[in-house]
Amino acid sequence: METNQPNNKEQGLIKMIQRMLNLIIVLVAFIVLLPLVIYNTDTISSWFKPANQKAVTPSFPEPKKSDEASKESTVSAFWQPKAMDAVADPALKEQVYYGRELIAHTAKYLGPNGSVLQITNGQNCQNCHLQAGTMAFGNNYGSVASTYPKYRARSGTSENIYKRVNDCFERSLNGKALDTSSKEMQAIVAYINHIGSNVSKGEKAVGSGLKDLAFLDRAADPMKGKLVYETKCQSCHQANGEGVLNPDNIEYSFPPLWGKHSFNDGAGLYRITNFAKYIKYNMPLGVTHENPQLTDEEAWDVSAYVLAQSRPHIAVPKDWPDITKKPIDHPFGPYADSFSEKQHKYGPFKPIVEKAKK
Ligand code: HEC
Ligand code: HEC
Repeated sequence: METNQPNNKEQGLIKMIQRMLNLIIVLVAFIVLLPLVIYNTDTISSWFKPANQKAVTPSFPEPKKSDEASKESTVSAFWQPKAMDAVADPALKEQVYYGRELIAHTAKYLGPNGSVLQITNGQNCQNCHLQAGTMAFGNNYGSVASTYPKYRARSGTSENIYKRVNDCFERSLNGKALDTSSKEMQAIVAYINHIGSNVSKGEKAVGSGLKDLAFLDRAADPMKGKLVYETKCQSCHQANGEGVLNPDNIEYSFPPLWGKHSFNDGAGLYRITNFAKYIKYNMPLGVTHENPQLTDEEAWDVSAYVLAQSRPHIAVPKDWPDITKKPIDHPFGPYADSFSEKQHKYGPFKPIVEKAKK
């Protein structure tokens, strides 16, 4: 048995050769991999990441919250209103502050129990133009002073700010137009002009108006939307959609979304794309465009549900004098294409857009 074993001298030599081979392998591996490691750490580290872990995209800087429109920021990525106390002339300053008050608490002055005139449905402009029209993608007024007067296809004419404000009085507030020379109209326009005076003429402020929302591949579904409404909206806007009036019977704490005190069917919000964009990035109350809560499907479906309910009607036979300029989601014919009123109201919109391109 002993004779089959290699002797001690042979064993030592074999071990030495094995160690040298190991050392050579390690050295070669080291020399080959070193430059890879140095120049390509990202690639290497990605080998060790789970396949579904995506690179983190840098997030957009937080915009500063507008503090009662009183502070101006020069660093924010989004438009911030020109500071209210920047107005030097005392009379103009008072007017601008009154304008802001009228936008935030319209009903107190112009609602059914208003102290100045009774010409609206009791909503406040601010219900749809959040933080008195200063919030990023909260349907703000950032681009109004800089872009009006402008041509609008709805009327087929050039509109100044008075006309545009009165459109919202007659449609969104389902009320009467304000006299252009009235103290109230002058104050509203002075306010809108002042807060937007830091945007160059002709330019659009970043984050003004509403943020875009992708179309669904299907029609928005009122039945699915009803469930969304019940779980995410009803606690404030109520099962009958009529909102909640303050105990003073003057202003709403939660505005109506349909029924006789709501906006009429000629209002901008009656178009589903506007409604869906507004609620996706602003509702339930408290969300912002940076932390929306509704999925795109929920936003479209709940919009369909709300817009399927009854609301005041306004006759506007002069709207869209050129029907080829009608927006795809205008819910009333006649149209330049052959899609139904139903499809123009709820979608699917992609086929309408495709057809229009041809
Ligand atoms: C029910 C919701 C609602 C209410 C209430 C409302 N608006 Fe509007 N307003 C809108 C929508 C939606 C638009 C955008 C419509 C569009 O682009 O088609 C708009 C647009 C405007 C614009 C033009 C903005 C731009 O960038 O072109 C002005 C100015 C305006 N509203 C002023 C007012 C004033 C002043 C009041 C109160 C007297 C008021 N709105 C009340 C929904 C509302
Ligand atoms: C926590 C309470 C609350 C919840 C929940 C909520 N809202 Fe609102 N909503 C409000 C308030 C308050 C306003 C008015 C904001 C203001 O004046 O500053 C408003 C305004 C609106 C407006 C514009 C004003 C109008 O009368 O047309 C719409 C549209 C709207 N909400 C839809 C919805 C939808 C849809 C949901 C559910 C996805 C929802 N809201 C959930 C409190 C709420």
